Amino acid sequence: MSNRLAKIRELLDAHEQSHLLADWDRLDEAGRDGLLNQLQLLPWETVDVVRDSIRHRVESNPPPSDLEPPHTCGPTDGDFFARGAEVVADGRVAAFTVAGGQGTRLGWNGPKGTYPATPISGKPLFAIFAEQLRAAQRRYGVIIPWYIMTSPLNDAATRAFFLDNKCFGLHRSNIMMFPQGTMPSFDARTGDLMLAGPGVVAESPDGHGGALDAMARSGALADMESRGITVVSAFQVDNPLVRVIDECFVGMHESNEHSSAEVSSKMVAKEHPTEPVGVFCRVDGRTHVLEYSDLPPELADARNEDGSLRFGAASIAVHLYSVPFVSRLTGPEGTPLPWHRALKKSPRWDPAAGTLVEPSEPNVIKLERFIFDIIPRAERSAILGTERAHEFAPIKNATGSDSIRTSQQIQSDLYGEWLEGRGVEIPRDEAGRVDARLEIGPLTAMRPDDLAGLELPRAVEPGGSLLL
Ligand code: UTP
Repeated sequence: MSNRLAKIRELLDAHEQSHLLADWDRLDEAGRDGLLNQLQLLPWETVDVVRDSIRHRVESNPPPSDLEPPHTCGPTDGDFFARGAEVVADGRVAAFTVAGGQGTRLGWNGPKGTYPATPISGKPLFAIFAEQLRAAQRRYGVIIPWYIMTSPLNDAATRAFFLDNKCFGLHRSNIMMFPQGTMPSFDARTGDLMLAGPGVVAESPDGHGGALDAMARSGALADMESRGITVVSAFQVDNPLVRVIDECFVGMHESNEHSSAEVSSKMVAKEHPTEPVGVFCRVDGRTHVLEYSDLPPELADARNEDGSLRFGAASIAVHLYSVPFVSRLTGPEGTPLPWHRALKKSPRWDPAAGTLVEPSEPNVIKLERFIFDIIPRAERSAILGTERAHEFAPIKNATGSDSIRTSQQIQSDLYGEWLEGRGVEIPRDEAGRVDARLEIGPLTAMRPDDLAGLELPRAVEPGGSLLL
């Protein structure tokens, strides 16, 4: 141990991080071993660069200039559905959920995918996706494997949830979970690394863009290749209305003139100039997603002749990637995605006082990779315009916007439309929102047509509920 400790001391001195050993004398054998292992594996080159840039207030990744609006297309701009259905029926499509986030805004005690999301049965997010997969497998008579990226912080809890729920009726061998990587957190003032507890360096998941490395490292990518998967349908864990397998999107990805069939995305119309969503744009002919904070206000406000926003194609973080594309990006010729910095509030361990200090202000810089940074790696990348109200009901916050309350209203509104299309009378409030709780499970219907032949009530009472 003493030899190993001496080497680590040297390493820490060289990187100006000796304070990380402050707890050494009070750690037991296992604690010491854990700390040395953690220190040895840190990405020290990146640590130096980030530390210096924080100390010298250097901006990271300046946003691109010369932005143009992107090309987008609608679901009826081609015979997309039939084309996509063929690809799904061929067994070439897999689902992929990024579920490694910490969900701090939601404040749920468990992985976000275990959150009860639907308006009546309170079905967890993971169960909704699993049922969609079962419905698609039944329709096409194929296996659709499901890859789930967890993080070291929630991997065990996510696996336990699936086992406790018998994988929601899916075959266990067709679900593969793998944890993403982590990155150390930096003191926002000094740029130094920090402790999260006695002898534990503060680290956090490396962003949804960590998916690329995690897929390659875990063997998930090789598993996809061995199963003949060519298209990965990727989505975030917190949108109960996401279409896990969308034939129309797959067909567009495979056949649209703007698609290289490497990576495609879905968009919805941005609601107003200051809505905090990433937007698609084109730079030097390539498609990018620009974070809302990086879009200059004059461009955010710019309008087309018809009054719509010029940069109004908002990303809902739903993408398709081709497996060969991901293999290329993660292979020897690929270059890693850039790091983005996020200023967050996080408790820190004070070794001198022996206490955990809760900050009153954001105090930590975390490093994350964003999955949408793969888009400009493709020469051409297509974007499918979709209806927000049909596909996007995110659960990000405990209350207010993008909360369970807004999400469940959007879900009820959508099912209200489906039911009205079948002649059911649906109560609505003055604003036109559905005044009832409505839920249609994926195994009952994946789209309005699937309701044909079902016995439906004539009407739903105001304030009532209907579960199908
Ligand atoms: P968010 O950006 O909403 O972050 O993630 P979050 O961690 O879930 O929630 P907050 O910001 O702490 O409240 C969007 C999607 O990306 C995944 C999340 O699980 C979610 O599906 N994600 C995020 C990862 O898989 N890994 C990460 O490191 C970050």
